[in-house]
Order: sequence, then C-alpha cells, then structure tokens
Amino acid sequence: MRIIITSDLHYNVARSRGPTEAIAREICSTGGDVLLFVGDSASTDLSVLDQVLGLFESFKGVKLLVAGNHELWTIGGADSLAKYEREVAESCRRNGVHYLDESPIRLGDIGFVGNVGWYDFSFRPAAMRIPLRFYRHKVAPGAAACFEKHRHLLAEDADVPPAAREVTSRWMDGERVRLPMGDVEFTQALACKLRRHLEEIEAQVERIIVGLHHLPFAELVPRTIIPNWAFAGGFLGSELFGETLLEFPKISHVFCGHSHREMTCRKGHLFCKSIGSTYRAKQYEVLDM
Ligand SMILES: [Fe+2]
Ligand SMILES: [Fe+2]
Repeated sequence: MRIIITSDLHYNVARSRGPTEAIAREICSTGGDVLLFVGDSASTDLSVLDQVLGLFESFKGVKLLVAGNHELWTIGGADSLAKYEREVAESCRRNGVHYLDESPIRLGDIGFVGNVGWYDFSFRPAAMRIPLRFYRHKVAPGAAACFEKHRHLLAEDADVPPAAREVTSRWMDGERVRLPMGDVEFTQALACKLRRHLEEIEAQVERIIVGLHHLPFAELVPRTIIPNWAFAGGFLGSELFGETLLEFPKISHVFCGHSHREMTCRKGHLFCKSIGSTYRAKQYEVLDM
C-alpha cells in the first residue's frame, strides 16, 4: 500500500497557491492508494477547502483529511467548534474525502486514525519564564502592552522578567478561533477522542497510521533562539497526544504538520514526522507498507 501524506497547503494564501497546484499535479501523477492531508489545507473561507481538494480530484486512491487550526479560524465571532464538527465534515463529503476527525477508517489491515490535535501549553519554553496567563490569552508580554484588551495581563507584573517584556508576538488563534471551552479542555477532549478512535479500530487491524495536525512530542518542536518564535512553541501541540499514542502498540507511524518544519523523532515503537510544508515550499511523504 502506497500512502502519501502532505500538510499545510494553505491554499487561501497567495504565495501558497502556485506551490500547492504544482504538488497536487505531482501527487496525482505519482498516484498511490491513500492520500492523507494533515491540516491547514485552507482557512476561514471553507470554499477554499473545496477548491484545494478539487486539485486532487484525479487521485485514484482513498483520500483522508484531518483539520488544522486554520480550518477553525472564523470571522465575526462565529463558532469554531461548529466549523470543525460540521462545515469541514461537509466539505470533505462533497469532495469524496474521509474526515478522520469524525471517524477512523480501516483499509485492508491498516487503520487510519487522527484529528486536529491542539495545545495545552505543555510545550511552552519554560526557560523564558513567561507566566501562563499570557499563553492563555495567546499574547506575549510585549504585545499585551500594545493592546488595550490585553493590558490587564500586566496589571500585576512582578512575575514578568525583563526579557519576557521584550517578546512581542501573538498567536493568531487568539483572534480567529472561538471555542465554547478553554484550550486545555479542548486538548483533553481531542485526546479522549483520539483514544476512543484508536480503541475502536485496534482489534480490526495489524497496524495503525496516525495523522495529527498539532505535534504530539516536544522533540518535534523546532528549537530557536529567537524569542518571538520560541513563544509560539506553546501553541504547537501537547504531550497528552504523545502519551496517548504510546499506549497503542499497533501504531507504527505518526504524521503531523503545523510547525512548517520537517522533523522526525522515534518514541518507543513510533516513528513520528512533521511534514514541513512552508507557505512557499510544499512537501509530501511517500510511505510504502
Ligand atoms: Fe500551517
Ligand atoms: Fe497549523
């Protein structure tokens, strides 16, 4: 079975359009039995998800998708959870794509399981000593000082070291994602769903391939000395997913996206890879099993 995995096509972004069209042509002409998209294929406007999936119409194999955080982006305070659970699912159905966030799938003796994943700040760079409340509001101390609505985070600022005040980045999910629960709770719900889907399928298959948009292991978080980028590490994933995956010995491979950096790690019986598509250069992985 030939499995092709790609990620972060971001077809809504102008500089991603040409590279996405090129990689779609390449993947369709290479061909395979399974094509797995691991998130951030489109963003706020899901008609773009229809467009990007349309580029892969001639791919003959089974197509699978997990959502990315960008597919949960909304404008005007719309509900990201409804988008995640209904609208992305509807786009997948329209385009003949199986939505793994909804249910796992068995193909021969291989099971495919996955979902968007999320973050609970467990990968935040502790050495920066940025208090947790800034991660919860998705804004670093230097940026909080610039926005009226975030200035309350600095009202009692004795716990904010001088270097942390120089960090000025924001995580834009804070502006674009509206969930009816906190990020920690959402992460826990998604980790529970991952476990449930793994339990559903494990007795029926020999091996399991997992797709997650966010990263399940700290080893996949890119190292950087640039403080504004290091702050972003808090939003790249959660150790909760890694702990869940390690409990299922039939999982052989885990593929993720989100970091836009190609990295691999081995954890126990698992081989994990972040695909590493950037906005300008799209990547895919071919796995023959
Ligand atoms: Fe992305
Ligand atoms: Fe992402």
